[in-house]
Amino acid sequence: MRIDGTAYRTIWAEEDGSVAIIDQTRLPHDFAVVRLGSLEEAAHAIRAMLVRGAPLIGATAAHGVALAMRADPSDSGLERACAVLLATRPTAVNLRWALERVSGRLAALPAVERAGAAAAAAAAIGDEDVAINRAIGEHGAALIRAVAERKGAGEPVNVLTHCNAGWLATVDWGTALAPVYVAFEQGIRLHVWVDETRPRNQGASLTAWELNRHGVPHTVIADNVGGHLMQHGRVDLCIVGTDRTTATGDVCNKIGTYLKALAAADNGVPFYVGLPSPTIDWGMSDGVRQIPIEERDGREVTDLTGRTADGRIETVRVTPEGSPVANFGFDVTPARLVTGLITERGVCPATREGLLGLFPERR
Ligand code: MRU
Repeated sequence: MRIDGTAYRTIWAEEDGSVAIIDQTRLPHDFAVVRLGSLEEAAHAIRAMLVRGAPLIGATAAHGVALAMRADPSDSGLERACAVLLATRPTAVNLRWALERVSGRLAALPAVERAGAAAAAAAAIGDEDVAINRAIGEHGAALIRAVAERKGAGEPVNVLTHCNAGWLATVDWGTALAPVYVAFEQGIRLHVWVDETRPRNQGASLTAWELNRHGVPHTVIADNVGGHLMQHGRVDLCIVGTDRTTATGDVCNKIGTYLKALAAADNGVPFYVGLPSPTIDWGMSDGVRQIPIEERDGREVTDLTGRTADGRIETVRVTPEGSPVANFGFDVTPARLVTGLITERGVCPATREGLLGLFPERR
């Protein structure tokens, strides 16, 4: 992604061994790069959502292990680093995937080699994420192109997306938004409906920001608008991301995704999911019952934060004092509501057989 002429990934290692990230809690108002220098800082960045989005959470955790190994490369240091990072957020399975991959590489190494090996493993995870997402972009863009050809020239393809599964949620490109960026690059006319995504507004603040920087036509809508647009033929396809998808194709994603999938099914609108393979939980088969759903601080529901006309960032309360709130971060869309999973190896039905057809080594 280019910001003011400079190509950025969302996370990178600096020469001094620290790790640079973009503080997403400050977007869309400020573009601020923050340095992480320790395990604790990496864990805080994930917990407090300076970084978020399943693939980026995984990549940050990998870098977090590398930072931890600089301070304490012993077996107990490695064990502690993985435990601290694993406890930061429960739903995105990329976190566990990245920790298992890095710790698996380090376990057999002497302590003195661990910091370097962890940094190399974290860099590899980042490069792999970029390649995976670019491939998802190619496969997904073909779906968008097919709609464009059906609609005819001059008519933009209307894509609806929920939350932020774009560049900011990954190391580069995004998952749900990679097809949008590739289609845009290929000259296909499109327009994105951006769900605001309460309570944290990742759509309104992050997806809108990155589409805007990239010049992709888009419109931010309140979370409840999608069904109405679908009833009136104003959505050609939905593409969302995922934090964990079961081996049977149940898709866990940001809260509210399920309602969009229901509306899409009722209106015959195709509902696709950008799914990098590290987000597949091959050990789970029933998403509704098995996937842990994060519950977050109620202040995300009671309060709204934004910039005032004179440039100050302010938080205001929108609910009455004393009204209890609940804040579930994610929901599960059953596989039957999903038209297809867009993976780095191609598009498949949201079924065990569909996934195994693309990933036969998992049989
Ligand atoms: O709570 P968040 O902002 O980490 O949730 C992010 C999402 O739900 C994304 O849609 C998902 O991680 C897919 S990201 C490529």
